[in-house]
Amino acid sequence: MMISYDFTGRHAVVTGAGGGMGEAITLALLAAGASVTGIDLKPRPDSLGGFGDRLAYCQGDLSDAEFVTTTITAAGTARGGIDYLANVAGVLWFGRDASALDMDMAVWDQVFAINLRAVALTARAAVPFMRKTGRGGAMVHFSTVQWYRGDPKPQDAYQASKAGVCALSKSLAMQLAAEGIRSNAVCPGMTLTPLQARWDSDDVLKAVADYAPLGRIGTAQDMANATLFLLSDAASYITGIELAVDGGLLMRM
Ligand SMILES: NC(=O)c1ccc[n+]([C@@H]2O[C@H](COP(=O)([O-])OP(=O)(O)OC[C@H]3O[C@@H](n4cnc5c(N)ncnc54)[C@H](O)[C@@H]3O)[C@@H](O)[C@H]2O)c1
Repeated sequence: MMISYDFTGRHAVVTGAGGGMGEAITLALLAAGASVTGIDLKPRPDSLGGFGDRLAYCQGDLSDAEFVTTTITAAGTARGGIDYLANVAGVLWFGRDASALDMDMAVWDQVFAINLRAVALTARAAVPFMRKTGRGGAMVHFSTVQWYRGDPKPQDAYQASKAGVCALSKSLAMQLAAEGIRSNAVCPGMTLTPLQARWDSDDVLKAVADYAPLGRIGTAQDMANATLFLLSDAASYITGIELAVDGGLLMRM
């Protein structure tokens, strides 16, 4: 079930546009009439071909501050403003991301640079262009339901950086509310994307699905649905929240 939105004439910046959720969000925004600047380390997925000048796909590293600033400034200048920012990119490095007590702190720093610092960098670059439109703006930042709980198999850099995403989102929401610029976080539950390549057999997939109270694994489309709602004017009275999109997982965590 999809609700249709009309984002004609609006411009969105989406990070992680080459990944599972970012690709679905980019496609949904394009289908709703928006133009999009997609950012990712990976090359452009085939599905994002054929949109002409409505899509600018920029390949690069979000931990590179100069790349982020240059790319978003170029997008805002070319489009005459930015309406939406979706921070979807993120990394969960199984094995290397472990306990804060003994993991490699160079890995910690890299995870924080991608998962949290890039959120600050993209917001710094995009907000001046949201102000420029004179019609406010909206941001959605991807965290995880994982940040609400402790983990016997810790991935502490992921967990702490994603908690930081929620905190930063709330702080931006407070700072920008008077200007009509909203900021919300999405906390996905277990969602089938390339990030979860470890779910590699039918048995594992069934166990993951059974663990969610709604009895299925989340899809990238579920996340796109929530993101478009939060970006849209239908959510114009919602800012500073974390929306769990998790099949009810939080109830049992
Ligand atoms: N899949 C899940 O179960 C799940 C659960 C909770 C939260 N999340 C979060 O949802 C978001 C989207 O995840 P996904 O499942 O679509 O994962 P994904 O791995 O398919 O997509 C993430 C994208 O981010 C990009 N990226 C990573 N580092 C980058 C960098 N330095 N510069 C530019 N791009 C970079 C990757 O290339 C990838 O395309 C992430 O923030 C993730 O932490 C996912």
